[in-house]
Amino acid sequence: MKMNLADRRSIRRYTDQPVPQERLEELLSLAFRASNTGNMQTYSVIVTRDKERKRALAPLHFNQPCVLSASVVLTFCVDFRRFSDWCLASDAQPGYDNFLSFYGATIDSMLVAQAFASLAEQEGWGLCFLGTTNYNAAGICDALHLPQLVFPVTTVTLGWPDELPELSDRLPAQGLIHLESYQEGDVKALYAAKEALPQMRRFVEENGKRTLAQVFTDVRYPKESNEAFSDALLSAIQRQGFHL
Ligand SMILES: Cc1cc2nc3c(=O)[nH]c(=O)nc-3n(C[C@H](O)[C@H](O)[C@H](O)COP(=O)(O)O)c2cc1C
Repeated sequence: MKMNLADRRSIRRYTDQPVPQERLEELLSLAFRASNTGNMQTYSVIVTRDKERKRALAPLHFNQPCVLSASVVLTFCVDFRRFSDWCLASDAQPGYDNFLSFYGATIDSMLVAQAFASLAEQEGWGLCFLGTTNYNAAGICDALHLPQLVFPVTTVTLGWPDELPELSDRLPAQGLIHLESYQEGDVKALYAAKEALPQMRRFVEENGKRTLAQVFTDVRYPKESNEAFSDALLSAIQRQGFHL
């Protein structure tokens, strides 16, 4: 099934049918048409098809099953290496190992990843972004042999869909759109419909919590673990040669 934005959903189960390499590269090339800072194209994509390499990546993604079952695992990376090397080879002094450059290249990498995701979903492929890249970035750098000034930003598992999950909810758009200047609204009203969803009520109950927000703060993304993974992420970025 080809997905438009209105009915798109993350797909985590895939058939055994491979995603053709040639078409994959065509769609990645199209995605590289996305806007990017200064047209420096400071990103790279690592395409993982090999089973052993997927096995090496899987634990770094907390063994999410989609890593092994995907036809392809794509790791979108900040890449200031290629551009800096080109500068050095051209009698130009690069100055891109700073936070601003890293941040800009991160945005550009995500724009490419999302442009690719939209194209892939229109092609009838299914995919899921993996934020676990941010949790185990150092290990991913090692597994993919990323050199200095290259850093993994996000991972996309990709394949032919073998499921059609329910559409997930979204907050009312009016609560996310601010006319002319930021307006602080009634957040409890904004989240009311989400909190009332039967699956969210179940989620709260199963986790032994009183509110849905507590499931996020106490179970899914607690402060202590956010801070520990945040420190690890910062050191991984620095280890790749960026000075933050
Ligand atoms: C940056 C990013 C990281 C994500 N990480 C994960 C992940 O590690 N595992 C997973 O199953 N889904 C992951 N997702 C998918 C989200 O859970 C999903 O997009 C969200 O729940 C909304 O569902 P939908 O995409 O089906 O509309 C991620 C999505 C994004 C954009």
